[in-house]
Amino acid sequence: MNKDLKQLTTPNGTTKYLFFGGKGGVGKTTLATATAVWFADHNYKTTIVSTDPTVSLSAMFGQKIGGEARIPIRHVPNLCGLNINPNDAKGVFQNRLNSVMGQMTGTFGGDVISTPCAEEMATFDQFVTFLDEPDSDVIVFDTAPTGKTLRELAMPFDWAGFLQKQIQEGQKLAELMDMDENSFEDLERDKHRYENALNVMRDRVSTIFNLVLLPERLPIEETHSAITGLDRLGIPVQALVVNQYILPEVIEGNRFLAARARVQKLYLAEIEERFGKLIMSRLPLLDRDVSELSTLRQVGEMLYGE
Ligand SMILES: Nc1ncnc2c1ncn2[C@@H]1O[C@H](COP(=O)(O)OP(=O)(O)OP(=O)(O)O)[C@@H](O)[C@H]1O
Ligand SMILES: [Mg+2]
Repeated sequence: MNKDLKQLTTPNGTTKYLFFGGKGGVGKTTLATATAVWFADHNYKTTIVSTDPTVSLSAMFGQKIGGEARIPIRHVPNLCGLNINPNDAKGVFQNRLNSVMGQMTGTFGGDVISTPCAEEMATFDQFVTFLDEPDSDVIVFDTAPTGKTLRELAMPFDWAGFLQKQIQEGQKLAELMDMDENSFEDLERDKHRYENALNVMRDRVSTIFNLVLLPERLPIEETHSAITGLDRLGIPVQALVVNQYILPEVIEGNRFLAARARVQKLYLAEIEERFGKLIMSRLPLLDRDVSELSTLRQVGEMLYGE
């Protein structure tokens, strides 16, 4: 159990937004779902939101979890789940964009929606809606945007801001395009919405960014680059979870496991040296996968205690 992680993540009067990011396959969904179940079991109203187009969340809880509405999770009172599908979100975003941009859609909307990051932008737009969501004590996000994704996400703010500035300064573009003033009020509102979202994500008390990694070369480098990218946006990473380390007591003379553990030891030392200022927890490599509710609860207890 890691007391610091528990202290950091437990809500104290205001909603906590918990993100679990990291390289592919390192255990983000495992950590996010175990955390959500732990908080729900401890009487916090909890929502888990995934932006992963795969069915991980549904598979984890053995029930269909979609993107339209929050679904109560069976056998876990206090827990609801939602799986935003970036493809569906893209349609929703297009609608918003159309209504905001009014007559400009033909000129700008089409361009924006065909950029490679349209999905991320759309997902972010949906995700912002969840930051406004009032009736959860804890909202856990699986698949946190890394620094790179977030920088791409910042595009619509720049773009909205740029347009607005142009128009406020000269109104020339507006006249040229025969636009109606109300479009800009909507634009302004969206800009504020996005700015608020970024501010929430920058707040060290309400938002906790956790990065998950394995004691291996590539996840370590990815962690470094995610920390740097998020830092540029003013979003601090506060905690790391080192997953799948090999407990000494399971080695029992097994040369293969002993060799892996020796390699891990070097990387664990490197993680300590490079990221030692962050709150650090560890989850051992288990002798089974983490797909049953009972195992999720065990993982939750290993991380946060009884
Ligand atoms: N400590 C652990 N011990 C044993 N198995 C683990 C452990 N942590 C994760 N796993 C298993 O590793 C696999 C990958 O974990 P998970 O799906 O949580 O990773 P992810 O980071 O969400 O992956 P993706 O990037 O694809 O979303 C899963 O099958 C999970 O059960
Ligand atoms: Mg996952």
